[in-house]
Amino acid sequence: RLASIGTGIATLSPSLLACRSDGNTDLVLPDNAFSRPLAFPEKIRATDFELAAETARRKLAGDAASDVYTLNGSLPSPTIRVKRGESLAIDYQNRIDQESIIHWHGLIVPPDMDGHPKDAVQPSQTYNYRFDIDQRAGTYWYHPHPDKLTGPQVYRGLGGLFIIEDEEEQALNLPSGDYELPLIVQEKRFSDSGEMTYSLNRMARMMGFFGNTLLVNGMQAPYHEVSNRFYRLRLLNGSNARILDFSFSDNSSFYVIGSDGGLHDRPCEISSITLTPGERADLLVDFSSYSVGQEIRMTAEARNGMGGMMDGMMVGGGMMNDENNNEEGMMGDGMGSRNSGGAFLEFRVTNEEQDPFRLPQALTELSFPNEADTDRTRRIDLTMEMMQGPAINGKFFEMLRTDQKVQQGALEIWEFNNGTMMPHPMHLHATQFKMLDRSGGPLAPHERGWKDTVRIDSGETVRVLTKFDAEKGLYVFHCHNLEHEDNGMMANFEIV
Ligand code: C2O
Ligand code: CU
Ligand code: CU
Repeated sequence: RLASIGTGIATLSPSLLACRSDGNTDLVLPDNAFSRPLAFPEKIRATDFELAAETARRKLAGDAASDVYTLNGSLPSPTIRVKRGESLAIDYQNRIDQESIIHWHGLIVPPDMDGHPKDAVQPSQTYNYRFDIDQRAGTYWYHPHPDKLTGPQVYRGLGGLFIIEDEEEQALNLPSGDYELPLIVQEKRFSDSGEMTYSLNRMARMMGFFGNTLLVNGMQAPYHEVSNRFYRLRLLNGSNARILDFSFSDNSSFYVIGSDGGLHDRPCEISSITLTPGERADLLVDFSSYSVGQEIRMTAEARNGMGGMMDGMMVGGGMMNDENNNEEGMMGDGMGSRNSGGAFLEFRVTNEEQDPFRLPQALTELSFPNEADTDRTRRIDLTMEMMQGPAINGKFFEMLRTDQKVQQGALEIWEFNNGTMMPHPMHLHATQFKMLDRSGGPLAPHERGWKDTVRIDSGETVRVLTKFDAEKGLYVFHCHNLEHEDNGMMANFEIV
């Protein structure tokens, strides 16, 4: 494990290394693990509706109640389902105690509908969204986006799936209804009494806020009863900072059929998938090889780079506590294993059923633009600013400063160079892109479709190709590690 940290560790500041081993250890599953049925967020299937954010107290893990934010009473926020071609009228009522604004992650909407932090509304005010849906069927999502407050607001429960349907996808007859499961997986931190906590010190601002428990749809370790047939899982890593490797407890394979921007050209069989905060995967799982009575668990392992050991330190609690550092932490026992990973959801095969679904060979045709037609290549450096944290091209976010000017309609390659010691999930608003390559290795199967969020590992260069067809105006791009974003790892681009 030491070897895997590599030489990079030598460049870490001494205060980073000296962290405390304080006995706050691995996630221990509660006694009642896998004893409560998985819940699903409220559903909204409408074109004209209100979304009201409110403060509430909810029991999430253990017996203590936590301060949360609900949307229309739901935590996670409701799953919104619309059809391509529909016109939406959504009124966002901010009834929480901070300014807020909603961003539609992955949707291409006009600049004043995009939830730019400059549009945040004060408590008790409303923001009226009016926009048309004209993009591919897929698993998008939405969440707050106020400057410096996105992390805490998502963490406390605001954020839900935004599903677009179209006729092309409908014709595939993918598993739907009870056979289509929205799964929002989020890492949270709970105190011993079971209260969800969020606090930032300099280190958390620099690394991201890491937790000790995985919730799925706001629940700790639930179960879900399934039939022995195909299911569609719409999986979102909605964590603030944690990158997760998902797989099944018996290592069985499944199929990835889509990613951030909709369906792929064909299903691809895999046995694990890495999702950064903000990334989605559309998966098909075939439970037909199981017999009634069998159980299979879905697992997620923490993966934030730096050899896993650094993660352990972040999670272990020492890093959360600037004042109490000492020398022993680094080599302390079990550092690398201190994380929120493990089984977070149990599927119980309880029903015998004929499955009418047959896995198609082809799903859709992907028409990516041609790299040869690129108008320009833009280099984006992810940099580490001494004592201040990660930034973009050496700068921190400023609300109205235009950092990149893009010609409307231009086809561009954005080349992200990660000169920092940690991975960054980079996200562009107002567009979907095609990943061209990553210097650190081949693209993963789910990275071959349309994307809006991409992991850039430490030291890596990743190139993406994208056409800027959105309306003229100001949009942001940023790291989707929400503490990085809140700390200013965000920049404006203006379509002109
Ligand atoms: Cu999901 Cu600007 O973010
Ligand atoms: Cu977005
Ligand atoms: Cu980052």
